[in-house]
Amino acid sequence: MAIMLIASLPRTLKTRPAMPGVPAVNVKIEQPAVTAPRAAAGVAQPRSIAGVKHIVAVASGKGGVGKSTVAVNLALAMKALGWRVGLMDADVYGPSVAMMVGTEGKVNLTPERKIIPLERYGIRYVSMAFFVSDEQAVIWRGPMVTKLETEFLFNVEWGELDCLVLDLPPGTGDAQLTITQRVKLDGGVIVTTPQEIALVDVRRGVQMFSEVNVPVLGVVENMSYYLCGKCNRRHEIFSHGGGARLAEALEVPFLGELPITRELREGGDSAMPLVAVNPAHPVTAAFKAVAAKIIEGLEEHPS
Ligand SMILES: Nc1ncnc2c1ncn2[C@@H]1O[C@H](COP(=O)(O)OP(=O)(O)OP(=O)(O)O)[C@@H](O)[C@H]1O
Ligand SMILES: [Mg+2]
Ligand SMILES: [Zn+2]
Repeated sequence: MAIMLIASLPRTLKTRPAMPGVPAVNVKIEQPAVTAPRAAAGVAQPRSIAGVKHIVAVASGKGGVGKSTVAVNLALAMKALGWRVGLMDADVYGPSVAMMVGTEGKVNLTPERKIIPLERYGIRYVSMAFFVSDEQAVIWRGPMVTKLETEFLFNVEWGELDCLVLDLPPGTGDAQLTITQRVKLDGGVIVTTPQEIALVDVRRGVQMFSEVNVPVLGVVENMSYYLCGKCNRRHEIFSHGGGARLAEALEVPFLGELPITRELREGGDSAMPLVAVNPAHPVTAAFKAVAAKIIEGLEEHPS
């Protein structure tokens, strides 16, 4: 079935579904008169989502640091701590959340034509990958996609949630900033790796959130050390403690270190995320510790 995205733009856009059995979706895009400059005055007020208590964005200074892996497993860790959690893949060019969580099940709409999220491992999730093929994402490059994504987010019937986790596209450019301006975020989480302990990248992330007055809940250092499956010990591949020092220098909380571990990668590749399928794994405990800090941070900054 063809999908129509109705936009108040010069053209009406028709999308080819990326998944079979996906119903037609109408997404209205509010087109501002001029492209908004970074954090300019007069930009539309960020909107909250009815029924959703907290919205948290997971960002990174650059790609490939494991942002999606962290977003997925963090969402599951929050769920394990008793929260009702939603997850939105806001990265149209690399929508890996669908791959990491699985796409079984049919996407349905409410009578008001709102998207009913899929449910897996006890969390609700939605990915742009269900609706937009890679080909289209490439054609629509730019601000157009960002607007589409944000409006899309408001067209989902999330229901009652304690927290909605957004996996932002990698980087801290205009696309990411636009999302943070349109959605009323309660906090930002920045994922980095020891190799990337380039202060500038994390600083950019912190700056992006502060430009839109969103509290930075903290920095997570992913692939921090190697958790060896043979001896069950921690091997320090990189110099240790960089993430914590960095967070201190930038005066934001440090949320913890996550190891590089085969099970985490395999879980992501097979739609069996580690935190969901292996509650006894030490890395699951590490994710829960990070999730607990995030929950604490959210409760300290009531929206
Ligand atoms: N701690 C980890 N241990 C082992 N593998 C990991 C870990 N974190 C991420 N990976 C693997 O690294 C790859 C990249 O991770 P992921 O897709 O989460 O990164 P990303 O920052 O979201 O990337 P992109 O910039 O493409 O969105 C994936 O194959 C993932 O399984
Ligand atoms: Mg990703
Ligand atoms: Zn070893």
